[in-house]
Amino acid sequence: MSSFSIAWLDLREGSDFAARDKTLVTQALNWLGQATDRVSPDRIIVDLGAGTGSTLRALSKLGANNIVWRLVDLDEKLLDEALRRHGKNCLIEDYQADLTIIEELPLTGAHIVSASALFDLASSTFIDALVARLDARKTAVYAALNYDGTTTWSPAHPLDEKVLTAFNQDQHRDKGFGPALGPDCTGYLQKALENNGYAVTIQPSPWQLAAKDHAMLTELINGIAAAVSEGYGLTAQALEDWKNFRIANVAEGNCTVGHWDLLALPR
Ligand SMILES: C[S@@+](CC[C@H](N)C(=O)[O-])C[C@H]1O[C@@H](n2cnc3c(N)ncnc32)[C@H](O)[C@@H]1O
Repeated sequence: MSSFSIAWLDLREGSDFAARDKTLVTQALNWLGQATDRVSPDRIIVDLGAGTGSTLRALSKLGANNIVWRLVDLDEKLLDEALRRHGKNCLIEDYQADLTIIEELPLTGAHIVSASALFDLASSTFIDALVARLDARKTAVYAALNYDGTTTWSPAHPLDEKVLTAFNQDQHRDKGFGPALGPDCTGYLQKALENNGYAVTIQPSPWQLAAKDHAMLTELINGIAAAVSEGYGLTAQALEDWKNFRIANVAEGNCTVGHWDLLALPR
């Protein structure tokens, strides 16, 4: 599994929230409000790869309430942080579990299975198995903030395109689910869900980063440079020049990173 620090998840959360397509969230919450097939009055959202609870915070801000949140993550310290932040005010069932053990995921009774910034780490095998476990008549899917392979920088640098090509290749590295779909994940997930009978809508949710996001941009630049430092034919010197140029421009320039949000509703 790749590990994600609380500091990095906190740093990106404001940009993630701004980027989320709000119409899909509204549609998801409207659908949830009208779900009639429930045995109990509880609305259950199972958030896969929940981290510190970013999906919970975003959906709560946008009107979700009276939800039983099943937060699933392999990383105990992230789940503990989610409980520390929300355990008193929200109904949380926390599950420290490996998502790849699909048959053990706590999906029973789920109204929505959600995930933010997760599916681009996942493989086609994982998505196929997960979708096969979903009850397409009863369980919606909300998958936000999946990277689409586009990153544009201003001002431009001559190495931008090569770095991006290398980074997008690296996005397919195994992150614990088998070969990752990376930028291909939204299309793959959409097709898998449609084949399983869902009505699927996707909307762009790009990060729009500028001077105010300098701390996040600096982390992003360091992360990209580290990811492409070996195996992609970029010399250490060229990459160092790119990184220094990019960091020197975080307070002046801007950057757009493409993502997509997806909502799949039972028909
Ligand atoms: C990019 S982070 C996103 C976290 C959170 N959804 C957010 O938007 O802030 C990916 C999350 O998936 C979790 N994760 C990755 N692989 C996993 C696996 N095999 N089983 C369970 N959780 C996993 C990580 O621990 C991390 O919390």
